[in-house]
Amino acid sequence: MRLAVFASGGGTNLQAILDACRTGDLPADVVACISNTSAAGALDRAQAHGVPSAVLPPADFDTPSAFGDALLDTLDQHRVDFVALAGYMLKVPKSVVAAYRHRMLNIHPSLLPAFGGKGMYGRHVHEAVLAHGAHWSGATVHLVTDEYDQGPIVLQEPVPVYADDTPSSLAERIQPVEHTLYPEALRLFAEDRVRIDGRTVRIDDYAPHRSSH
Ligand code: GAR
Repeated sequence: MRLAVFASGGGTNLQAILDACRTGDLPADVVACISNTSAAGALDRAQAHGVPSAVLPPADFDTPSAFGDALLDTLDQHRVDFVALAGYMLKVPKSVVAAYRHRMLNIHPSLLPAFGGKGMYGRHVHEAVLAHGAHWSGATVHLVTDEYDQGPIVLQEPVPVYADDTPSSLAERIQPVEHTLYPEALRLFAEDRVRIDGRTVRIDDYAPHRSSH
Protein backbone atom coordinates (compact mmCIF):
# COMPACT_ATOMS: atom_id res chain seq x y z
CA MET A 1 0.00 0.00 0.00
CA ARG A 2 1.45 3.36 -1.08
CA LEU A 3 0.41 5.73 1.67
CA ALA A 4 0.36 9.54 1.82
CA VAL A 5 0.08 11.21 5.23
CA PHE A 6 -1.47 14.69 5.49
CA ALA A 7 -0.29 16.57 8.61
CA SER A 8 -0.30 20.13 9.92
CA GLY A 9 1.21 19.69 13.38
CA GLY A 10 3.97 17.98 15.29
CA GLY A 11 3.41 14.68 13.53
CA THR A 12 3.45 12.14 16.36
CA ASN A 13 0.86 10.08 14.49
CA LEU A 14 2.97 10.28 11.32
CA GLN A 15 5.88 9.04 13.43
CA ALA A 16 3.85 6.09 14.74
CA ILE A 17 2.89 5.19 11.16
CA LEU A 18 6.50 5.46 9.94
CA ASP A 19 7.69 3.30 12.85
CA ALA A 20 5.03 0.66 12.17
CA CYS A 21 6.08 0.54 8.50
CA ARG A 22 9.72 0.13 9.50
CA THR A 23 9.04 -2.74 11.90
CA GLY A 24 6.74 -4.46 9.41
CA ASP A 25 3.66 -4.17 11.67
CA LEU A 26 2.12 -2.06 8.91
CA PRO A 27 2.69 -3.52 5.44
CA ALA A 28 2.78 -0.16 3.69
CA ASP A 29 5.19 2.53 2.52
CA VAL A 30 4.76 6.19 3.35
CA VAL A 31 5.56 7.69 -0.06
CA ALA A 32 4.57 11.31 0.61
CA CYS A 33 3.85 13.71 3.43
CA ILE A 34 1.61 16.65 2.54
CA SER A 35 1.10 19.72 4.71
CA ASN A 36 -0.66 23.04 4.42
CA THR A 37 2.11 24.77 6.36
CA SER A 38 5.90 24.76 6.26
CA ALA A 39 5.85 25.14 10.07
CA ALA A 40 4.60 21.55 10.57
CA GLY A 41 7.02 19.49 12.66
CA ALA A 42 5.70 16.50 10.72
CA LEU A 43 7.79 17.66 7.74
CA ASP A 44 11.03 17.20 9.73
CA ARG A 45 9.94 13.70 10.71
CA ALA A 46 9.23 12.87 7.04
CA GLN A 47 12.61 14.22 5.99
CA ALA A 48 14.38 12.19 8.70
CA HIS A 49 12.83 9.06 7.15
CA GLY A 50 13.64 10.07 3.57
CA VAL A 51 9.94 10.59 2.77
CA PRO A 52 9.31 13.30 0.14
CA SER A 53 7.06 16.10 1.29
CA ALA A 54 4.97 18.84 -0.30
CA VAL A 55 3.72 22.05 1.31
CA LEU A 56 0.46 23.16 -0.30
CA PRO A 57 -1.15 26.15 1.46
CA PRO A 58 -4.65 26.79 0.06
CA ALA A 59 -3.90 30.54 -0.02
CA ASP A 60 -1.38 29.87 -2.80
CA PHE A 61 -4.22 28.85 -5.14
CA ASP A 62 -6.79 31.08 -6.87
CA THR A 63 -9.74 28.78 -6.23
CA PRO A 64 -10.60 25.86 -3.96
CA SER A 65 -10.79 23.68 -7.06
CA ALA A 66 -7.22 24.62 -8.07
CA PHE A 67 -6.13 23.64 -4.54
CA GLY A 68 -7.88 20.28 -4.94
CA ASP A 69 -6.21 19.76 -8.34
CA ALA A 70 -2.77 20.44 -6.83
CA LEU A 71 -3.38 17.89 -4.09
CA LEU A 72 -4.55 15.32 -6.63
CA ASP A 73 -1.53 16.00 -8.89
CA THR A 74 0.81 15.46 -5.95
CA LEU A 75 -0.93 12.22 -5.01
CA ASP A 76 -0.77 11.04 -8.63
CA GLN A 77 2.93 11.91 -8.91
CA HIS A 78 3.68 9.62 -5.99
CA ARG A 79 1.22 6.94 -7.16
CA VAL A 80 -0.57 7.10 -3.81
CA ASP A 81 -3.32 4.56 -3.28
CA PHE A 82 -4.31 5.39 0.32
CA VAL A 83 -4.38 8.60 2.39
CA ALA A 84 -4.09 9.01 6.18
CA LEU A 85 -5.01 12.38 7.69
CA ALA A 86 -2.93 12.77 10.84
CA GLY A 87 -3.59 16.11 12.48
CA TYR A 88 -4.39 17.79 9.14
CA MET A 89 -6.23 20.92 10.17
CA LEU A 90 -8.00 21.69 6.90
CA LYS A 91 -11.10 20.30 5.28
CA VAL A 92 -10.01 18.10 2.37
CA PRO A 93 -11.47 19.37 -0.95
CA LYS A 94 -14.43 17.38 -2.24
CA SER A 95 -12.58 16.34 -5.40
CA VAL A 96 -9.89 14.63 -3.30
CA VAL A 97 -12.42 12.98 -0.97
CA ALA A 98 -14.24 11.62 -4.04
CA ALA A 99 -11.05 10.34 -5.70
CA TYR A 100 -10.06 8.50 -2.49
CA ARG A 101 -13.51 7.33 -1.43
CA HIS A 102 -13.11 4.46 1.05
CA ARG A 103 -9.34 4.97 0.77
CA MET A 104 -8.89 7.91 3.16
CA LEU A 105 -8.82 7.75 6.96
CA ASN A 106 -8.67 10.35 9.73
CA ILE A 107 -7.86 10.04 13.42
CA HIS A 108 -9.79 12.08 15.96
CA PRO A 109 -9.01 12.39 19.68
CA SER A 110 -12.47 11.60 21.10
CA LEU A 111 -15.14 8.92 20.84
CA LEU A 112 -17.02 10.14 17.76
CA PRO A 113 -19.72 11.25 17.19
CA ALA A 114 -19.16 12.99 20.54
CA PHE A 115 -16.97 16.07 20.44
CA GLY A 116 -16.44 16.12 16.68
CA GLY A 117 -17.33 18.53 13.89
CA LYS A 118 -16.07 21.88 12.65
CA GLY A 119 -13.67 23.60 15.05
CA MET A 120 -13.18 20.41 17.06
CA TYR A 121 -9.52 19.63 16.67
CA GLY A 122 -6.55 19.08 18.97
CA ARG A 123 -6.80 20.87 22.32
CA HIS A 124 -10.33 22.18 21.58
CA VAL A 125 -11.62 18.61 21.71
CA HIS A 126 -10.16 17.92 25.16
CA GLU A 127 -11.39 21.28 26.49
CA ALA A 128 -14.91 20.44 25.31
CA VAL A 129 -14.80 16.96 26.87
CA LEU A 130 -13.76 18.42 30.24
CA ALA A 131 -16.26 21.30 30.04
CA HIS A 132 -19.03 18.76 29.42
CA GLY A 133 -18.00 16.62 32.38
CA ALA A 134 -17.70 13.48 30.25
CA HIS A 135 -16.31 10.44 32.07
CA TRP A 136 -14.87 8.84 28.95
CA SER A 137 -13.07 10.08 25.91
CA GLY A 138 -10.81 8.15 23.54
CA ALA A 139 -9.66 7.92 19.96
CA THR A 140 -11.53 7.17 16.74
CA VAL A 141 -10.25 6.22 13.30
CA HIS A 142 -12.86 6.84 10.65
CA LEU A 143 -13.28 7.06 6.90
CA VAL A 144 -13.26 10.58 5.50
CA THR A 145 -16.42 11.92 3.88
CA ASP A 146 -17.50 15.46 3.02
CA GLU A 147 -18.94 16.04 6.51
CA TYR A 148 -16.47 16.75 9.34
CA ASP A 149 -15.89 13.64 11.48
CA GLN A 150 -19.03 11.90 10.18
CA GLY A 151 -17.55 9.05 8.13
CA PRO A 152 -17.99 5.36 9.03
CA ILE A 153 -16.00 4.34 12.12
CA VAL A 154 -13.20 1.82 11.59
CA LEU A 155 -11.70 1.49 15.09
CA GLN A 156 -12.37 3.16 18.42
CA GLU A 157 -10.83 2.91 21.84
CA PRO A 158 -12.07 4.50 25.06
CA VAL A 159 -9.84 6.35 27.53
CA PRO A 160 -11.07 7.40 31.02
CA VAL A 161 -11.32 11.05 32.02
CA TYR A 162 -10.10 11.77 35.57
CA ALA A 163 -11.47 14.44 37.89
CA ASP A 164 -8.18 16.32 37.99
CA ASP A 165 -7.52 16.15 34.23
CA THR A 166 -6.45 19.20 32.26
CA PRO A 167 -6.68 19.35 28.45
CA SER A 168 -2.95 18.52 28.37
CA SER A 169 -3.12 15.55 30.74
CA LEU A 170 -6.08 14.12 28.83
CA ALA A 171 -4.27 14.60 25.51
CA GLU A 172 -1.21 12.85 26.95
CA ARG A 173 -3.32 9.84 27.95
CA ILE A 174 -5.07 9.66 24.56
CA GLN A 175 -2.02 10.11 22.34
CA PRO A 176 -0.38 6.73 22.99
CA VAL A 177 -3.73 5.10 22.21
CA GLU A 178 -3.83 6.97 18.89
CA HIS A 179 -0.33 5.78 18.13
CA THR A 180 -1.30 2.11 18.26
CA LEU A 181 -4.87 2.48 16.94
CA TYR A 182 -3.96 4.34 13.73
CA PRO A 183 -1.28 1.96 12.39
CA GLU A 184 -3.59 -0.93 13.34
CA ALA A 185 -6.50 0.53 11.35
CA LEU A 186 -4.23 1.15 8.37
CA ARG A 187 -2.94 -2.42 8.56
CA LEU A 188 -6.51 -3.73 8.21
CA PHE A 189 -6.86 -1.84 4.91
CA ALA A 190 -3.38 -2.87 3.73
CA GLU A 191 -4.41 -6.49 4.32
CA ASP A 192 -7.73 -5.95 2.51
CA ARG A 193 -9.75 -7.04 5.54
CA VAL A 194 -12.24 -4.16 5.61
CA ARG A 195 -15.75 -4.22 4.10
CA ILE A 196 -17.81 -1.04 4.15
CA ASP A 197 -21.56 -1.48 4.23
CA GLY A 198 -23.25 1.93 4.48
CA ARG A 199 -22.22 3.32 7.86
CA THR A 200 -21.02 -0.05 9.09
CA VAL A 201 -17.44 -1.19 8.78
CA ARG A 202 -16.91 -4.93 8.98
CA ILE A 203 -13.47 -6.38 9.57
CA ASP A 204 -12.53 -9.96 8.64
CA ASP A 205 -11.00 -12.10 11.43
CA TYR A 206 -10.46 -9.22 13.80
CA ALA A 207 -9.39 -9.66 17.42
CA PRO A 208 -9.22 -6.08 18.68
CA HIS A 209 -6.09 -4.91 20.41
CA ARG A 210 -6.82 -3.75 23.97
CA SER A 211 -4.51 -1.36 25.73
CA SER A 212 -4.38 -0.84 29.49
CA HIS A 213 -4.51 2.68 30.84
C1 GAR B 1 -3.93 14.22 17.17
O1 GAR B 1 -4.28 14.14 18.52
C2 GAR B 1 -5.15 13.99 16.30
O2 GAR B 1 -6.06 13.09 16.85
C3 GAR B 1 -5.73 15.38 16.24
O3 GAR B 1 -4.63 16.23 16.10
C4 GAR B 1 -3.52 15.65 16.80
C5 GAR B 1 -2.32 15.68 15.89
O4 GAR B 1 -1.16 15.33 16.61
N1 GAR B 1 -6.65 15.50 15.15
C6 GAR B 1 -7.80 16.18 15.23
O5 GAR B 1 -8.12 16.82 16.22
C7 GAR B 1 -8.66 16.11 13.97
N2 GAR B 1 -9.93 16.72 14.19
P1 GAR B 1 0.16 14.91 15.83
O6 GAR B 1 0.51 16.04 14.86
O7 GAR B 1 1.18 14.81 16.92
O8 GAR B 1 -0.09 13.61 15.13
